[in-house]
Amino acid sequence: MKRVLITRRLPAEGLAPLQRAGFDVAMRSSDTAPGRAELLALVEGVDALITLMSDSVDEELLDAAGPDLRVVANYAVGHDNIDLAACRARDVVVTNTPDVLTDTTADLAFALLLAVARRLREGDLMVRSGAWDGWQPGQLLGQEVSGATLGLVGMGRIGGAVARRARGFDMNVLYHNRRRSAALEAETGARPVSLRDLLRESDFISLHCPLTPETHHLIDAAALAAMKPTAVLVNTARGPVIDEAALAAALAAGRPWGAGLDVFEHEPAVEQRLLALPNVVLAPHIGSATHSARTAMARLCAEAVVTVLAGGTPVNAVT
Ligand code: DGY
Repeated sequence: MKRVLITRRLPAEGLAPLQRAGFDVAMRSSDTAPGRAELLALVEGVDALITLMSDSVDEELLDAAGPDLRVVANYAVGHDNIDLAACRARDVVVTNTPDVLTDTTADLAFALLLAVARRLREGDLMVRSGAWDGWQPGQLLGQEVSGATLGLVGMGRIGGAVARRARGFDMNVLYHNRRRSAALEAETGARPVSLRDLLRESDFISLHCPLTPETHHLIDAAALAAMKPTAVLVNTARGPVIDEAALAAALAAGRPWGAGLDVFEHEPAVEQRLLALPNVVLAPHIGSATHSARTAMARLCAEAVVTVLAGGTPVNAVT
């Protein structure tokens, strides 16, 4: 019987295809990540693995799993936790969870953008603490979103979905991407620009690129200094795309004006200086956190496992 290991508790409804296929499924019952030693022991002899972005799938883990391993289905659209070359060398198929979390993540990017622009966190604290003493003309003045310029770093599925949302706010959309997307340009009016121009011209900058060696610390001290002093930076992609220490220093100096962060460089640790800053809204990596998206992600993983173990090629293969 084919053995499948799921490294974290996932929504059971999504995993039905594994039961139907009659596999021997072992799912850790914990919501927290396994330690490395536990993970290496658990993977021994499995045919399929359903992993999370906190599980590093490298040579060591593939060796520990052994020659039966055929597929690693990653419960995320990002797959920077996986050594794709090592998987390819062993004929292990890697899959991810595209599409099903696109709108969910784009919604969160927009929620962060609006929350920072309109200082919702400070307002919420003011009301709760009893410090609010009535309407004032100069109270909690923020940045105008409607009609502003939005710069998207990365124009894949999620970047495109953010561009569509921006149309509803009459925003002027710029983007920087490896490839141009004529279809999205026609649909959203987005204009391709260099990263340098995007940083200089945008009122809001939202990151939607994958984490690769090229995008690691793409937003460093120099990039931050190139932004408008009134700019708002949003990150729902991967934490290490931003040099978090440089961002904390820049935000403390008031330039850029604010940031909304769902992802962090060393999750779950967060740069301490960010915690004390009023101009930052912080979220605990909840971009895809809706019931329907998380269930659909589990279903995609399960279907990929079934397809590969039956000798097929899943639509969501990344190798
Ligand atoms: C992803 O899918 O890559 C997110 O970061 C987690 O849902």
